[in-house]
Amino acid sequence: MATVHMHGGIGESIKRKEDARFLHGKGNYIDDLVLPGMLHMAILRSPHAHARIKSIDTSAAAAKPGVIAVVTGELMAQHKLAWMPTLSCDTQAVLATDKVRFQGQEVAAVIAESKYQAEDARDLIVVDYDILPAVTSPDAAKAEGAALIRDDKDGQKDNHIYHWESGDKDKTQAAFKNAAKVVRLHTFYPRCHPAPMETCGCVADVDSVTGKATIHMTSQAPHAIRTVFALVTGLPEQNIRIISPDIGGGFGNKVPVYPGYVVATAASLLIGRPVKWIEDRTENLISTGFARDFHMTGDLALDENGKMLALRVHLDSDNGAFFADAQPTKFKAGLFHIVTGSYDIPTAHVTADGYYTNKAPGGVAYRCSFRVTEASYLIERLVTNAALEIGMDQADFRKKNFIRPEQFPYTSATGWVYDSGQYSKAMDVALNQLGYDELKKDVERRRKNGEVTGIGIASFTEVVGAGHGADFDILGLRMFDSAELRVHPTGKAMLRMGTKSQGQGHETTFAQIVAEELGIPAADVAVEEGDTDTAPYGLGTYASRSTPVAGAATAMVSRKLRDKARKIAAHLLEAAEEDLEWERGKFYVKGSPNRAKTIQEIVFAAYTNLPEGMEAGFEGVHYYDPPNMTYPFGTYAVVVDIDKGTGQVKVRRMVAVDDCGVRINPMIVEGQIHGGLTEGFGIAFMELITFDDEGNCIGSNFMDYLLPTAWESPKFELGETVTPSPHHPLGAKGVGESPTVGSPAAYVNAVIDALSPYGVTNIDMPVTSDKVWTALRGAGVTE
Ligand code: CDP
Repeated sequence: MATVHMHGGIGESIKRKEDARFLHGKGNYIDDLVLPGMLHMAILRSPHAHARIKSIDTSAAAAKPGVIAVVTGELMAQHKLAWMPTLSCDTQAVLATDKVRFQGQEVAAVIAESKYQAEDARDLIVVDYDILPAVTSPDAAKAEGAALIRDDKDGQKDNHIYHWESGDKDKTQAAFKNAAKVVRLHTFYPRCHPAPMETCGCVADVDSVTGKATIHMTSQAPHAIRTVFALVTGLPEQNIRIISPDIGGGFGNKVPVYPGYVVATAASLLIGRPVKWIEDRTENLISTGFARDFHMTGDLALDENGKMLALRVHLDSDNGAFFADAQPTKFKAGLFHIVTGSYDIPTAHVTADGYYTNKAPGGVAYRCSFRVTEASYLIERLVTNAALEIGMDQADFRKKNFIRPEQFPYTSATGWVYDSGQYSKAMDVALNQLGYDELKKDVERRRKNGEVTGIGIASFTEVVGAGHGADFDILGLRMFDSAELRVHPTGKAMLRMGTKSQGQGHETTFAQIVAEELGIPAADVAVEEGDTDTAPYGLGTYASRSTPVAGAATAMVSRKLRDKARKIAAHLLEAAEEDLEWERGKFYVKGSPNRAKTIQEIVFAAYTNLPEGMEAGFEGVHYYDPPNMTYPFGTYAVVVDIDKGTGQVKVRRMVAVDDCGVRINPMIVEGQIHGGLTEGFGIAFMELITFDDEGNCIGSNFMDYLLPTAWESPKFELGETVTPSPHHPLGAKGVGESPTVGSPAAYVNAVIDALSPYGVTNIDMPVTSDKVWTALRGAGVTE
């Protein structure tokens, strides 16, 4: 695939510009950074899930050679930094002062000349704990006499965090009364972890002369973090510089502020030298933002013909010891109320309760828009179960109930306006690709031969691109995003963004948008993100919001500059502006294509030969607050074969048809989909963070927390449809999270379809061999 000679506009699969750096080992990650005089920090973590701290003895640690300081909660409290606000307006202990509330919680930190000295000294800190009973599930949290976890909070009498509702309760109840059939699914979306390849970390460097704090950190949202730091520490915001260098995967894990960042910054401020903190793998898995942990019950009401009448859902959310989800303040359960999915359901009622437990705080939206993954999983599982229960084909049942193309823009039962969709079309592409009709006959044949095999479908609808500042905010900050485009005299450009790539290829795709809109080849557009001293303010990259929001900002700023280019071209060509035509890369006089000025000539003139009275230079900025979210969608179809002797599930086929509107770079989109389908596979079949009754975290390393490799992952067969977003300037919708959101239900539905002849209606993820084998044994069919 040629790249250098291509213009690199929208729709071209140019190679990723950033990959040259990564493939040559020239990436610049936090742990690569070495500053003069830099110290290292190691954090002491609680071995207990719930315990009162009686005393902390740091004397032996402090006496070790190379140790510069030992920081405790008490010291942090003297600087009013023992607690910090979370992104959900709760508070979280930075270093524990009174109690520890989850295993792995930060208790003290050692700052030393080397990492090894810091870790050795950390092991000499003696903490005297009074162990308390641990609460490890919402059921345990609400039980009579449950230990009170958040006794630090005034007025907190139990472990309940929030109750939240959406939809119309009365109308929904009435619809259920008239239903011919009600199908119920109770399922658990277990706690899993984004587990990015690079763990979290920072190098905090507070200049003792100027007071300027430069914090190099793994952050998906550097500007928002700068504002939070300013509010927490009281430092003037212009004296805080957050730099997110290359990031080795984020998936939501790198959105929150973790105590390690705050302690390292405070230590640098107090000591006057840079301090580096890098998590190890276990620290990342046990203490940073987990995902999911939703216990969900869904009821779907149907009429006698299989038409959906109403949906009723309740969920209990296990939020861990501190409510630290990153989500808009208006939606306590994130975007869970998008649970009506792709279906025209006249009424719905959703309730959610959040609980504190003695587990790590979170959960983050792991490759997800604020809990839409859990919602999508529930509705897609419920729909397949309903089809199986009423004996209707799962594809036909979906088609009967899909929101039809002519219904868009469609207002859902919980009040969300879906922008565009062609759900049946995407499903048809998937089913054709799969050879569905033949495959169904094949399944029948195989079942007659005693084989256990099944087909699973998920026709998800996503909601990405937070997103419309009136509804979406983080701690009150409206979720717009930004692009600043500066074109140099020779026509080469610098595009700075409020977003921050963690491997999604922004340096390529955002340059392609400029290439399309302003005609400067993508190779000539350098894209820079992640430095708050240089980039315009933005809310960062998560929830697949970069293309819907910052991509739109890029198109808009390019168009602003194209308007200026038209004026300069008119001046150069001695023509009226309205007599000029734009063709990508040049303006020409209508009817005289040879009387033209290229964008490069025009930009040069912006510095050398301007129309009278025009401001010099060629640069602009645009802050884009989207009018709505974008709603990508698709159909995923999976075929599984199950070994009766072992319960092992083999994915024979996986067809994934995605519609994310206009694709900026189809190759990058496919890469995003491959990655997300692999993560969905891992969640469906392998990954689990669980806890024993004492709150010990099981799943704290990659021997226990199983990530899929190329060996386990199925072969993906991709397809596409294109339904542009009507409100996005390019018609593009986000895509990054769709495969992680949509695929788990498809995988599990295939297993449930395979086991449906034996009366099995649910197996909670991860669907491991032993769970499948146990289910088969219950039905008396194991070999
Ligand atoms: O916010 P994040 O970058 O994670 O998600 P995204 O907006 O879905 O974009 C992921 C990558 O896919 C980016 O490089 C996008 O520009 C690219 N993409 C694309 O080429 N066309 C789309 N319609 C959507 C995303």
